[in-house]
Amino acid sequence: MTLALHERATACAKIILLGEHAVVHGQPAIAAGLPDALTLVAAPLPDRTAPVRVAIPAWDLDFTLAEVGTHPVARACGDVLAHCDGPLTGWRIDGATSIVARAGLGSSAAITCALARLVLGTDAPTDAVVDASMVGERVFHGTPSGIDSEVAARGGVIRFVRGEAVQPIALGKPLRLVVVPSGVARSTADQVAKVHRAIERWPVVARNLVETAGRIANAGQQCLERGEHDRFGELADMAHGVLCSLGVSSSTLDELCAVARRHGALGAKMTGAGGGGCIFAVVDGDTTALVDAFAARGLAPMRVEVST
Ligand code: MEV
Repeated sequence: MTLALHERATACAKIILLGEHAVVHGQPAIAAGLPDALTLVAAPLPDRTAPVRVAIPAWDLDFTLAEVGTHPVARACGDVLAHCDGPLTGWRIDGATSIVARAGLGSSAAITCALARLVLGTDAPTDAVVDASMVGERVFHGTPSGIDSEVAARGGVIRFVRGEAVQPIALGKPLRLVVVPSGVARSTADQVAKVHRAIERWPVVARNLVETAGRIANAGQQCLERGEHDRFGELADMAHGVLCSLGVSSSTLDELCAVARRHGALGAKMTGAGGGGCIFAVVDGDTTALVDAFAARGLAPMRVEVST
């Protein structure tokens, strides 16, 4: 067991650009990392026998590993530390973040990757960080596809297919998005279960929808590589429609996408597990009207530039 932690580690947040949910069923998905979205800083506790304490005020998190039986985040963090042979006592870990939690931006993958790096070091092999993150992600989400951990650990823009090597994507030009958190929290596991149910009830129809989402991801990858953001926006609209048909959007997310389109977005879709969480709008040119429209609804839109 390693008794020391490294002083500081970071991980990316993620935006799934295309293919969420379908990726659970073997289809391709495209995701972008938002660098340094979470920074964890470790310091020794005066009492080396006291359980590890983790505090991330922006996510209302403050727990110790003594709570692993009752606190799912404590359990996930404890499992990641144990997997990495890290210390379970004697350390305080403080987190600072630029993203909201439980909003489809990969907060759980970010915390598990950053935690793994506190033990394994910032230059640890990415695969080892991903493996450790997946141990925690299973506590949070049951049977995750792995895309969140891969992009939180690697960053950049990636194509992910379950069971295949991750493929980095080189963008033809930077992609500009406005990400809008709906303010509605949701459970990824519940959302994933909805698609499983849809496939059970409508094997042919729902599987076709899932495969269509995969085809949209393939077409979207080409648009991103060529820098064709207007066409990528059209595909984002289509992908949102497919996710609606699979039952994982919500009236709030649909309305936010409609607002984005009315205010000049090239396209808009929910991102991540849906049901709440975020949408993103694909934008070009002046985004003032679009950003103001969301701010007027009391929301906090984020301008994001994805580049490789
Ligand atoms: C959640 O961020 C992405 C989903 O596709 C679930 C998964 O891939 O495990 C909804």
